[in-house]
Amino acid sequence: MAKEKAATAEELNALAERRRQEQAVERQKREREKAQRAGLWSRRDFFGRLSWGGFGVFSLVSLLAFIRSAFPRVLFVPPATFKAGFPADYPVGEVSEKYKTEFRVWIVREPVGFYAIFAKCTHLGCTPRWLASENKYKCPCHGSGYYKTGYNFEGPAPRPMDRVKIAVGEDGQLVVDKSVLFRMQPGVDPNKQHPESILKV
Ligand code: FES
Repeated sequence: MAKEKAATAEELNALAERRRQEQAVERQKREREKAQRAGLWSRRDFFGRLSWGGFGVFSLVSLLAFIRSAFPRVLFVPPATFKAGFPADYPVGEVSEKYKTEFRVWIVREPVGFYAIFAKCTHLGCTPRWLASENKYKCPCHGSGYYKTGYNFEGPAPRPMDRVKIAVGEDGQLVVDKSVLFRMQPGVDPNKQHPESILKV
């Protein structure tokens, strides 16, 4: 009887051990499956994020292109010809800077008539300043100096400043035409080398 009981206890122990092993195997199996699922989901997450990121970038670029198209690249170029008021508006001896900012032109009235100087230094193209107290144009870039006629007399400028056409329109106003340029050569008084640049009024 005691032998029979011992056998039953052994059997029970063996049974319990087998269950523990089966449970351990089952646990390992579940953990493996869980790990596999996690790997699969993390790959899905990665591709999902990648596609959303791509979509975001595409949308942003499209939006920027749309906004850019609302502001077309237009370069404002002032017209070549402009009206400059009546001759009587200009005192004799004056260098008018009224149209320098917009059209880069000085209008000069001398006893010989009117002429319009293109305000571009013949050295490297800077815009000189008219210094009324010194009766000359002075280039701020490298110091070239020009007389009132545009003739260069100091600094690196190689020749006088050019002039543009000035005439009187049908309504009696001065008309400056920048498409007609009187190019000045070195060493000659601008009034003498291009007398047609002078409007005698
Ligand atoms: S650009 Fe005028 S002096 Fe050089």
